[in-house]
Amino acid sequence: MLLKLREKGPAVADTAHFGSRQVPLTEKQALVDDVFRSVAHRYDLMNDLMSFGLHRAWKDALVTAANPPRNRDFALLDIAGGTGDVAMRVVAAGGEHSRATVCDVNAEMLAIGRERAAARGLGAVLTFTEANAEALPFADRSFDVVTIAFGIRNVPRIEAALAEAFRVLRIGGRLLCLEFSAADVPGLDRLYELYSFNVIPALGRAVVGDAESYRYLVESIRRFPRPEDFAAMLRAAGFGRVSFALMTGGIVALHSGWRL
Ligand SMILES: C[S@@+](CC[C@H](N)C(=O)[O-])C[C@H]1O[C@@H](n2cnc3c(N)ncnc32)[C@H](O)[C@@H]1O
Repeated sequence: MLLKLREKGPAVADTAHFGSRQVPLTEKQALVDDVFRSVAHRYDLMNDLMSFGLHRAWKDALVTAANPPRNRDFALLDIAGGTGDVAMRVVAAGGEHSRATVCDVNAEMLAIGRERAAARGLGAVLTFTEANAEALPFADRSFDVVTIAFGIRNVPRIEAALAEAFRVLRIGGRLLCLEFSAADVPGLDRLYELYSFNVIPALGRAVVGDAESYRYLVESIRRFPRPEDFAAMLRAAGFGRVSFALMTGGIVALHSGWRL
């Protein structure tokens, strides 16, 4: 039976969501890469416009949880770190011994981050590495904290990325993952839906000249597992003391898990 299904096309396990479309698993990454290649030059400006600046507060909550020490060595890995926004915030909050590695699969996003880090005099404390979250080129147990902000829903094999995050964390280290969720306040959910599907693609067209990429970003939020299901995925990957906190009426969740 399974064989028959396979003859007709890929089985469900071999497909992934690309926004609201189901695509072969092996094709999702290239589609995601096209999105971020297209929006890279205006990515941070769009974040401010789309979220009314709220992404800064969400990232502040992540930085507070990361709690970089001011008086000893600290190594952060920011997976799907894009233009380095989170890594720069963590390094700024930590002491002179804080270092961050920004890892992303997209060279265009990283190039903007590298330029920005150099302009801010952070070239020596930030490293930008082009790599896939599913196969990290870092040694076991080499980071104190691993962060992923608004990145995990773009990764085709989420379980593989979580296993890699676990592997590179030191024992006692923490994974912090910011991701969009579903608004859970009556009234806000409808408003959020209308805003997401109407205003955000229009904004994408006006600012970046690309509505489609922003339509994908909105649709991909809908497809991402609910916070309690994602928490179960973290436990399955080996993380302990797993928890999440909802922010802004449930629009964003900050997930946490420890390598114990
Ligand atoms: C929405 S952006 C988030 C960027 C940054 N973390 C932030 O919060 O500003 C998502 C990022 O995930 C990256 N990405 C997508 N798939 C990836 C993968 N398999 N491995 C690593 N990065 C990936 C994209 O290239 C993009 O830079």
